[in-house]
Amino acid sequence: MADAHSDAAFERRKRAAQPRRATAADREQVIECLTAAFATDPVMSWIGRKDAKRDQGRRAMFRFLVGKLGLPGGELWTADDYGAAALWIPPERADMKLPWWEEVRLLPTIMTFTGIGGLSRADAFRKAADKHHPKDKPHFYLMTVGVNPKFQGQGLGSALLEANLAAIDAKGLPSYLESSNEKNVPLYRRHGYQVINEFRPAPDGPPLWGMWREAKAR
Ligand SMILES: CC(C)(COP(=O)(O)OP(=O)(O)OC[C@H]1O[C@@H](n2cnc3c(N)ncnc32)[C@H](O)[C@@H]1OP(=O)(O)O)[C@@H](O)C(=O)NCCC(=O)NCCS
Repeated sequence: MADAHSDAAFERRKRAAQPRRATAADREQVIECLTAAFATDPVMSWIGRKDAKRDQGRRAMFRFLVGKLGLPGGELWTADDYGAAALWIPPERADMKLPWWEEVRLLPTIMTFTGIGGLSRADAFRKAADKHHPKDKPHFYLMTVGVNPKFQGQGLGSALLEANLAAIDAKGLPSYLESSNEKNVPLYRRHGYQVINEFRPAPDGPPLWGMWREAKAR
């Protein structure tokens, strides 16, 4: 891992602290950043296929999330060097509803991601995440955040989160996320999130932590 104290890391942190909304021109780089970031994520690894096509499968899934939820939702954030990216769902799109033809198109994408045998894992995850997702208050939902593995642990994720949360605080809105890795729980706690539930998508599935953050007055 590169040195977090180097000048280059300092510059990368600075860029992540001043993110911009991703546009269609950023699509491929953002997909690559997220695909690489989640290579060893416990939840994605459980849902996804385990064979030689696993990277390809994850990429297909992020292509879908970025193209169908991130870019249209207008809350997909990245920095100029694509060191980090975050996809939020704003309150007005909370139901994440897709037209039926997009749902139909989603099926082959999920199959590319999971392989045929993994469809039931994807379904179990969707149901468990939906069941635990708070629905009573309008909020921002952090669907995914990732840092290029070469630059993880250098403060890029924190810088991007902090910038996004400052904008969400300015709207006076709370936010929610599911941590798919125990390692990230302290990071989110430092940013003001509290664990409100812990669940598994299936008895043999990995744990997830549902975390909520009230808006902070600044
Ligand atoms: C989680 C993630 C976005 C954090 O961004 P980051 O720039 O690596 O993290 P920062 O340097 O700002 O903060 C470091 C903290 O992040 C957490 N962390 C999670 N994964 C980490 C990793 N691979 N390397 C270093 N820190 C990591 C730890 O809590 C760490 O705090 P610590 O040093 O006290 O243990 C990034 O590590 C990542 O993309 N991980 C893989 C994908 C993922 O887990 N996404 C979030 C899903 S909920």
